[in-house]
Amino acid sequence: MGEWSIEPATVEALPDILQIEDACFSSPWTRKMLEAELSGNPFAHFLLAKQVPPGDAGSISIVGYLCFWVVFEEVRLMNLAVIESMRHRGIARALVLQALEVGQAQAAMRAVLEVRASNHAAHALYRSLGFRDVSTRPTYYTNPIEDALLMGLDPIVSESGR
Ligand SMILES: CC(C)(COP(=O)(O)OP(=O)(O)OC[C@H]1O[C@@H](n2cnc3c(N)ncnc32)[C@H](O)[C@@H]1OP(=O)(O)O)[C@@H](O)C(=O)NCCC(=O)NCCS
Repeated sequence: MGEWSIEPATVEALPDILQIEDACFSSPWTRKMLEAELSGNPFAHFLLAKQVPPGDAGSISIVGYLCFWVVFEEVRLMNLAVIESMRHRGIARALVLQALEVGQAQAAMRAVLEVRASNHAAHALYRSLGFRDVSTRPTYYTNPIEDALLMGLDPIVSESGR
């Protein structure tokens, strides 16, 4: 199964992130969008989950990632994905917790995100971290058209399990 760890991303990770996007989303972020976030957005942060197969330190692979913004007092979770074969091991939870820590270190006090109304796995993940439903944004998503649930964690420290 191997170990996994989390670290900040650099632009070299772009092809791997694109691959994960394409595999995990019906409307994946494009190369242009990712490039803009990785190198042109001063608020944006990227964390990568990397796997090292047992006994093979040479073949590290990127198995998940999280893009988030820290905008003054607010952490905005923008995009989160873990490849299917590495799910249910706590990787997404660890990515979100690390993002909240980065935000807190920059004096952020709350966190927000949008999630597709039908995405029960992600909704359960965020609820388990203390996020609560705030409101619905009707027909927010395309391909397929769907409502977004706006979720919030305010303050960050309250129920995030740390
Ligand atoms: C949602 C996603 C990121 C979860 O990744 P993951 O690494 O498997 O999640 P974790 O193992 O950290 O799960 C943490 C908690 O989330 C919840 N959860 C995760 N997957 C779940 C599922 N399929 N069903 C129900 N709850 C789930 C559980 O509460 C879980 O805690 P537990 O393992 O103690 O039960 C992953 O399924 C994914 O990449 N999906 C496709 C892309 C996506 O939907 N991204 C989110 C966009 S908002």
